[in-house]
Amino acid sequence: MQPYHLIYLSQWMEPMGAAALEVLLHQSRTYNRQHDITGVLLHTPEGRFLQVLEGPRAAVRHLYYHAILSDPRHHHCRVLGEGPWPTRSFATWTMGFRHAQAGDLRTLLGEATGDSLGLTPRPYPRPQLLGLVLDFVEQDRIPTWQEQ
Ligand SMILES: Cc1cc2nc3c(=O)[nH]c(=O)nc-3n(C[C@H](O)[C@H](O)[C@H](O)COP(=O)(O)O)c2cc1C
Repeated sequence: MQPYHLIYLSQWMEPMGAAALEVLLHQSRTYNRQHDITGVLLHTPEGRFLQVLEGPRAAVRHLYYHAILSDPRHHHCRVLGEGPWPTRSFATWTMGFRHAQAGDLRTLLGEATGDSLGLTPRPYPRPQLLGLVLDFVEQDRIPTWQEQ
């Protein structure tokens, strides 16, 4: 069965400091490990999130549509793409984390979509965006918060 991918953008409601982000990551990694979900979360100083979720279709969709989407810590959630794709891009990460700058996201999304910030949901597959996120993450060899 091909892993299912879902990529979305969102914006925090209130500024989240390092401690709050660490709690979020710890909870996410525990849940994701139990449900065979992997992925990465990018976060900018302005509070924008870009997350890639990958794993069994039902698990990924349940997590996003029944938990993440209604999480009061963020809003303006917009799915950039979702669907099956042959391989996981972040297979060893229950939830990787990277700081990013707003310009990084603009570059990633601009390159992937050819328009400004790519805020319109688009059909999957979006291998180009997945590949760009993977390249971005791999450039930074020292993660801010290592996987446990
Ligand atoms: C930006 C963001 C990303 C999140 N990513 C995950 C995740 O990958 N896995 C996860 O279990 N929860 C994640 N959460 C937390 C969920 O939204 C939710 O709080 C969690 O699943 C607990 O839900 P519950 O309180 O209904 O049990 C994320 C929340 C935010 C704000």
